[in-house]
Amino acid sequence: MTAMTVNERPVDFDMDPETPLLHALRDAANLTGTKYGCGVGDCGACMVLVDGEALRSCLITLAEAEGRFITTIEGLSPDRGHPVQQAMVAEQAIQCGFCTPGIVIAAAALLRGNPEPTEAQIREAVPNLCRCGVYPRLVRAIQRASRVGRRRETISAAPAPGIDPADAARAVPGMRVEGE
Ligand code: FES
Ligand code: FES
Repeated sequence: MTAMTVNERPVDFDMDPETPLLHALRDAANLTGTKYGCGVGDCGACMVLVDGEALRSCLITLAEAEGRFITTIEGLSPDRGHPVQQAMVAEQAIQCGFCTPGIVIAAAALLRGNPEPTEAQIREAVPNLCRCGVYPRLVRAIQRASRVGRRRETISAAPAPGIDPADAARAVPGMRVEGE
């Protein structure tokens, strides 16, 4: 068993400790918002917060994640109303959406440490690859999320539909969620 906290819930993964965290999250914890893009650390689609830092979960083993606090896209905001999520929708910075969860995680980590980043800082902190090429809108969205986070602007649009967090972390063979 490898124990850690995922989206504020204690979980034990009964899997090979060398399993990439990405696969444990997707295949055992049913947290499929975290995407498998390249599998080798290039694309950023698999980013999750590990103790508040945006890291590529395809490069982290379960053993390395033991005892740490993991936040996936499903756990970032209970109502999908994080300023980055609101701004990504408002700026139409999503096309197919495959890269979006990793981008949101990277941007959320950036704004947490630097609430008013420059464009250069955004491009450096959010290096995620997007096959649809949303990069200009992506920068605008993160700048807008920065304004929302600093209470210079509000976005009134309803959050985009998505997986209800209550549905996302179901225990399946290979994982035990305490309390279930
Ligand atoms: S799947 Fe992890 S960086 Fe591409
Ligand atoms: S929106 Fe399609 S890969 Fe980024």
